[in-house]
Amino acid sequence: MNTVPSKLDFHFLICTNARDNGKDCASKGSQQILDELKSWAKEQKFTQKIRINKSGCLGRCEEGVVAVAYPSAEWLVNIGTNELEEMKKFVQSKVGS
Ligand code: FES
Repeated sequence: MNTVPSKLDFHFLICTNARDNGKDCASKGSQQILDELKSWAKEQKFTQKIRINKSGCLGRCEEGVVAVAYPSAEWLVNIGTNELEEMKKFVQSKVGS
């Protein structure tokens, strides 16, 4: 195993995990949030190296939808499908234009 420096300036992980009991991020629209944010980010043509990915459970299911950003290690919780504009502003604040 080797450790290497990140090639990314900003990495955003959004939980899309689904559970049988429905206490998860998927049931709260996380895939929709992920898809719309990724589509928007692609349109922005950021000059920085960014990546927005789905993730498995981030361990805060009761607070879903949950996301985490790196390298700042900021956690976003209780993200609603109606908060896409706020999500865009968050990403924009991390990567500039
Ligand atoms: S299901 Fe999203 S944090 Fe656990």
